[in-house]
Amino acid sequence: MISVQDYLERLGIAELRPAQQKALDAGLERGRNLLVCSPTASGKTLIAELAFLQALNEKKISVYIVPLKALAQEKYAQFTKRNVFSVGLAVGDLDEKDQHLHQHDVIVATAEKLDSLLRHHAPWTARIGVVVVDEIHLLNDPGRGPTLEILLTMLKRITRPQLIGLSATIGNPEELAEWLAADLVVDDWRPVRLDKGVLVGTSVEFPDKPF
Ligand SMILES: Nc1ncnc2c1ncn2[C@@H]1O[C@H](COP(=O)(O)OP(=O)(O)OP(=O)(O)O)[C@@H](O)[C@H]1O
Ligand SMILES: [Mg+2]
Repeated sequence: MISVQDYLERLGIAELRPAQQKALDAGLERGRNLLVCSPTASGKTLIAELAFLQALNEKKISVYIVPLKALAQEKYAQFTKRNVFSVGLAVGDLDEKDQHLHQHDVIVATAEKLDSLLRHHAPWTARIGVVVVDEIHLLNDPGRGPTLEILLTMLKRITRPQLIGLSATIGNPEELAEWLAADLVVDDWRPVRLDKGVLVGTSVEFPDKPF
């Protein structure tokens, strides 16, 4: 059993960021569905990792769904480096490596690949306890949205997992949270302040408040 505290110590994290604390307060460890909306680089990935931890302690599989293969590779490397989870990567065409996916605690997958694995009845999918959807605003995307929507609907039917959606830019968070049956976790804290400036000659003026 690894506690949140142990995990944070391992990562050298001294203090949680606001969105992370809010996610814990909203029931992250109690299996609540959450839709987390916070700015870029505000630390949403760690929220997913804390959910993996819970699933690991319950011997369930976590899946982390990303829109692009490149992002899958990046997250795979990042989660593997933690040395806490056994991590699998599911991105390509169906192949023999897929037979080993059930051995992992966390599976990083593209939506298309996971959709294909579910349709081929990969037996481990019945052990999925946590589903994280990174860049979940893509549900609104006319191209990718429908695949993701069907995928989430199938996953909900198979295992009733804890669902965690992550995004920096959702136009309709309340509506999406309702569809996911999730609590909304919203925070505006960002690591680097963004100021809107106007270049006047060679200097920049800041007419507005920071946004
Ligand atoms: N509590 C923390 N203390 C210090 N650093 C942290 C903390 N939480 C996360 N970080 C670091 O902040 C950086 C950005 O985090 P992360 O990639 O999770 O952002 P994000 O919210 O997913 O952003 P994006 O929307 O761009 O994907 C990472 O390098 C991560 O290690
Ligand atoms: Mg992120």
